[in-house]
Amino acid sequence: MLNIFLLPLAILISYIFLYDEIINKTNYVITSTGYIALVYLVITLSLPLLKNNSLKVKTRLFGISAFYFSMIHFILYVIDNSYDLVFIMEDALFRNYIIVGYLALILLIPMYLTSFKYFKDKIKEWKKLHKIIYVVYFFILVHIYFIIKADYYYLILFSSIFLVIIIFKRYNIYKLNE
Ligand code: HEM
Repeated sequence: MLNIFLLPLAILISYIFLYDEIINKTNYVITSTGYIALVYLVITLSLPLLKNNSLKVKTRLFGISAFYFSMIHFILYVIDNSYDLVFIMEDALFRNYIIVGYLALILLIPMYLTSFKYFKDKIKEWKKLHKIIYVVYFFILVHIYFIIKADYYYLILFSSIFLVIIIFKRYNIYKLNE
């Protein structure tokens, strides 16, 4: 857990302090934490597709770390807006990219909670619940789509990865049903 969560966080913090070229540091950290969370979602979705199941524990840790980075991303957004609750509420109601951001974050909460044994024991259908991750991923793609103005590189990249993961998943199901 420490390596997966703390290492990228430490690298990010050291970047902020070491590189003076970064003009808007808050925006830089908000964007970076968003992308780290997204990369961790990609890893969480991809690891179960591997034949070797010994990585199962790691999958859970990547999922948890994706949630923590999303929370840091959200907290930084609140700090960046000087804890102005009225402004934050208006954003949550009227800004498209913020609305989908909230939807993704809210959907991550039940997945995060049911990754712990206590809740897993209580909710028998937790495996089905974790399929929400696909909806979360889709919302993040929409979140990015609403934010970017010109450079579609990352949107195309992460959309393509999503498509490949879905195709692989389908193919596996097809194989099982054979
Ligand atoms: C309450 C929830 C959320 C809020 C308020 C929020 C807010 C923001 C803000 C303010 C930005 C910077 C926009 C700009 O550069 O002008 C941003 C960017 C971003 N967010 Fe979120 N976000 C939320 C949830 C999420 C989640 C859950 C993820 C990923 C798991 C995510 C991924 C990203 C990414 C990848 C970017 C960078 C987009 C780009 O500039 O290319 N966000 N978000």
